[in-house]
Amino acid sequence: MSPSSQVFPVLWYEDHVRLIDQNHLPTSYEVVEISRCDDMATAIKTMIVRGAPAIGVAAAYGMYLGAREITTENRDQFLIQLEQVAQKLRETRPTAVNLFWAIDRMLKTARQTVGSVSYIKEVLLSTAQTINADDIATCEAIGAHGLRALPQTPAQLRLLTHCNAGALATAGYGTALGVVRSAWQAGRLERLYADETRPRLQGAKLTVWECVQEGIPVTLITDSMAAHSMKRGRIDAVVVGADRIAANGDTANKIGTYSLAIVSKAHGIPFFVAAPLSTIDFKLSTGEQIPIEERDPAEIYQIGNTIICPPGTEFYNPAFDVTPADLITGIITEHGVMKPAELMQLQTKQVV
Ligand code: MRU
Repeated sequence: MSPSSQVFPVLWYEDHVRLIDQNHLPTSYEVVEISRCDDMATAIKTMIVRGAPAIGVAAAYGMYLGAREITTENRDQFLIQLEQVAQKLRETRPTAVNLFWAIDRMLKTARQTVGSVSYIKEVLLSTAQTINADDIATCEAIGAHGLRALPQTPAQLRLLTHCNAGALATAGYGTALGVVRSAWQAGRLERLYADETRPRLQGAKLTVWECVQEGIPVTLITDSMAAHSMKRGRIDAVVVGADRIAANGDTANKIGTYSLAIVSKAHGIPFFVAAPLSTIDFKLSTGEQIPIEERDPAEIYQIGNTIICPPGTEFYNPAFDVTPADLITGIITEHGVMKPAELMQLQTKQVV
């Protein structure tokens, strides 16, 4: 299958990285050119690039850019300084494990490569490019497996998703939105319902933008409309992405995913998580151990330039929540669809 999405949020171009600035979509399409590791760290932190797999790809290139800035020709000194680069990138965002997975893979590659420092740098660039290319193939496989796991009836499905787990959140094609794309290409999608996804509105701004680009029928709802839409029989299945999945299947994803899983269960609607193997953290036995990012309260006290609450208000702004495994119908990876309890079978397949 060839990808229908021509959206590539992270691209290596000549001697630097091009990022689609996701903070400006859908109002304007802007590309940011990144040549330095510090700028890549800032881009991840400020969510110019966001979405777990895309963050991983960006961090891999960030590792190469950081390596390129190291001037020593001494291998041991180089590896010490590369660890400092890794640490800078690790501190950008805490929840999406793909960030740490990509950084560790780049570090391991550097340590295992025999040869001069300049040769190690070349290998690091090609490793980042491999991570980038592999992610697109992985998403296409997730799309194909997900399509087979969707309910057989009705013939044309109404799917619901949360946040943006699309081409923009990956190297291209998307995980949850990859399943939606596959369903659309196979003639099995009537319509996608997209939660707006408070507070940063990735659903409204990014998921809807991707669908509109491709003519995929999409209906925007606010997060609080999901239960009602289910009750009224408008939703046949839910497909979401993931930022980190614990070994038992507990899944961290954008805040609001947990409530969506609860209302799906209450209405007997299948709830799928779509994610690459690199999103599974086999070191964590349960979701309780997943670090949850807390973000700037401005994300919730302000809409545009308007402050929506009185002075003196206190805030809590967790960016992710953890959906317990027992609320998840199936986890769709590039290796197929599994029950959360079967996830450990995939551990040996993970490239680390
Ligand atoms: O804060 P974000 O926008 O990086 O959060 C993104 C999500 O929660 C996505 O659903 C998740 O990363 C999966 S992306 C394929």
